Amino acid sequence: MKLDKVIATRPNKTVYRDGDLAIKVFERDYSKADILNEALNHARVEETDIRIPKLIEVGMIDGKWAIVTDFIEGKTLAQLMEENPGKKQEYLEMFVDLQLSIHREKAPMLNKLKDKMNRKISATHFDATTRYDLHMRLESMPKHDKVCHGDFNPSNVIITADGTPYVIDWAHVTQGNASADAARTYLLFWLSGDVKTADEYLNLFCKRSDTPKQYVQKWLPIVAASQSVKGKPEEKELLSRWVQVVDYE
Ligand SMILES: Nc1ncnc2c1ncn2[C@@H]1O[C@H](COP(=O)(O)OP(=O)(O)OP(=O)(O)O)[C@@H](O)[C@H]1O
Ligand SMILES: [Mg+2]
Repeated sequence: MKLDKVIATRPNKTVYRDGDLAIKVFERDYSKADILNEALNHARVEETDIRIPKLIEVGMIDGKWAIVTDFIEGKTLAQLMEENPGKKQEYLEMFVDLQLSIHREKAPMLNKLKDKMNRKISATHFDATTRYDLHMRLESMPKHDKVCHGDFNPSNVIITADGTPYVIDWAHVTQGNASADAARTYLLFWLSGDVKTADEYLNLFCKRSDTPKQYVQKWLPIVAASQSVKGKPEEKELLSRWVQVVDYE
């Protein structure tokens, strides 16, 4: 496999293209369990009707773990939104419809969203009283088993030349409550600094799925707590504010 064509760089991984393949190479200190979990998640999602690149291989390249999938020729929805601001509404509708189509799928072998969130809450730096509130809030949420991407944002959607969308990056997928997934996407827009798009997204999601906005907002303290575990200093204050909200107004 040739690693000379870089398509994306992140602090702890690099994505390369070699012909028809996309090769995601992780740095040496990346958790092996997390990499294998991402590959297994990907394989499980491949068994649903969601259109995703095929997993080809998981292995070592020069002492680093790599996940190899089909390369999808196209542009990410993030790129398209930036290039054609006039089409933002159309792209946002496509984005929400795609997320709803994921939520219609089931994959009973995936990890449970509630288990993941409970673990994350326990791992936060918040005091015991706040963590207790968060655990209780989570417990009170209805239990569902929809496929939830977990990192659904426009950079994880690739649109081919004929307009076919592919969803990538299944590291965080779980099965659970779709409103939690929507709250997470809302938070991701917020954290990227785009509050306006966050609000437009949430309005559209609630309208198309006939979900009350309050229901998605109830998840915000939980998804904010989960994000805080990443320990990004620039997000700390904002996430603490979301977490402390007793009931969103
Ligand atoms: N199979 C693929 N085909 C084409 N491009 C790909 C493919 N996989 C990844 N990419 C490109 O590499 C970028 C990063 O890949 P991916 O989303 O899997 O990694 P990531 O580290 O989780 O990224 P992020 O943190 O930005 O979500 C994508 O936004 C896309 O541009
Ligand atoms: Mg990604």
